[in-house]
Amino acid sequence: MRVLVLGGTVFCSRAIAAAARRRGHDVVCAARGASGAPPDGAALVTIDRNVPGSLEPLRGERFDAVVDVATMSLGWVRDALDVLAPTSGHWTFVSSINAYSDTTTRGGTASAPLLEPLLESPAVDSPDTDPNAYGAIKLASEDAVRATTGDRALVVRGGLMCGPGDVMDRFGYWADRFARGGRVVVPDVPGHPAQIVDVRDLAEWIMRCAEAGTGGTFDGTAPATTLAKVLDEVAGAVGAPDLEVVGLPAETLAEAGVGVWAGPRSLPLWLPESHWGIADRDVTATLAAGFTARSVADTARAALEWEKTLGLDRDRRAGLTPEEEASLLASA
Ligand SMILES: NC(=O)c1ccc[n+]([C@@H]2O[C@H](COP(=O)([O-])OP(=O)(O)OC[C@H]3O[C@@H](n4cnc5c(N)ncnc54)[C@H](OP(=O)(O)O)[C@@H]3O)[C@@H](O)[C@H]2O)c1
Repeated sequence: MRVLVLGGTVFCSRAIAAAARRRGHDVVCAARGASGAPPDGAALVTIDRNVPGSLEPLRGERFDAVVDVATMSLGWVRDALDVLAPTSGHWTFVSSINAYSDTTTRGGTASAPLLEPLLESPAVDSPDTDPNAYGAIKLASEDAVRATTGDRALVVRGGLMCGPGDVMDRFGYWADRFARGGRVVVPDVPGHPAQIVDVRDLAEWIMRCAEAGTGGTFDGTAPATTLAKVLDEVAGAVGAPDLEVVGLPAETLAEAGVGVWAGPRSLPLWLPESHWGIADRDVTATLAAGFTARSVADTARAALEWEKTLGLDRDRRAGLTPEEEASLLASA
């Protein structure tokens, strides 16, 4: 197949381009090249989607499959559909589980209630940077893709992505931290769900769907488990011999100003109970459509290798600094 990846220079879209190459396809990536280079064997067409008409050089080109990961711009998605859909086959749009309106109820499927799509905002013409608009822009983008490409459309609502190339520092925090060893603070929250997806699994599945012409809307994530099991598996795979896990209750962490999920002074993957629904999606349909997940241990080993290339002692976007963790342990 001839495959176009709108993106392809970093993380998820790069993994998709790499999976397409591995599967023997002719791959073109279209991006600025600012985030990195496409995988070996894939061509790069240099475009800036913020520049009107930047996709015009691709108009009329025939692609059997297009993959778009546009993060927060309906305008980008509409332009791509306008220029490329008339001469393209299968169309994948990578969306997000942030599209759902109910973050609490566990076991939701792709037909669960959704946010209102955001059609009127700066995002119609250019990228929006308001994180609160993320899910609603994804939904407006999904709708545009389905309206234009019909049953050729595959919409994948990604869960928490991890693995090689991850620049969000969330799952990687745990691989890095357990590998450094010593006393490690973890949230002690019994029954806390967790759900992650290795971008390599997601990429492989998306390409298999493209080959098979699979359409529809799916949650793109592995089956749910518990946070305790995920952390156990990461520790088992990459933990240092002197690792000692110290569980602290949610109340203790909150009182100490430790944040949930992501960001500075946080414990990544930890969620308030009001958001456990986003870490416990029912992915029966995704599995039936052929998705398979590798072990958390495998992801942890790859994440640690990736962390080493970034530098284990770097300032991180998520997690506790060694000083913050030491002060928590001292007062625990
Ligand atoms: N991370 C998660 O846990 C998570 C969870 C759910 C869903 N998602 C979704 O998964 C996707 C992740 O995509 P990704 O890993 O490929 O990362 P990304 O950071 O969204 O980058 C996407 C691609 O867009 C390109 N790009 C950025 N600005 C551009 C511009 N002005 N013109 C042309 N290309 C541009 C980048 O290349 P250049 O910079 O080289 O141009 C890159 O190749 C997104 O749709 C995200 O919303 C992520």
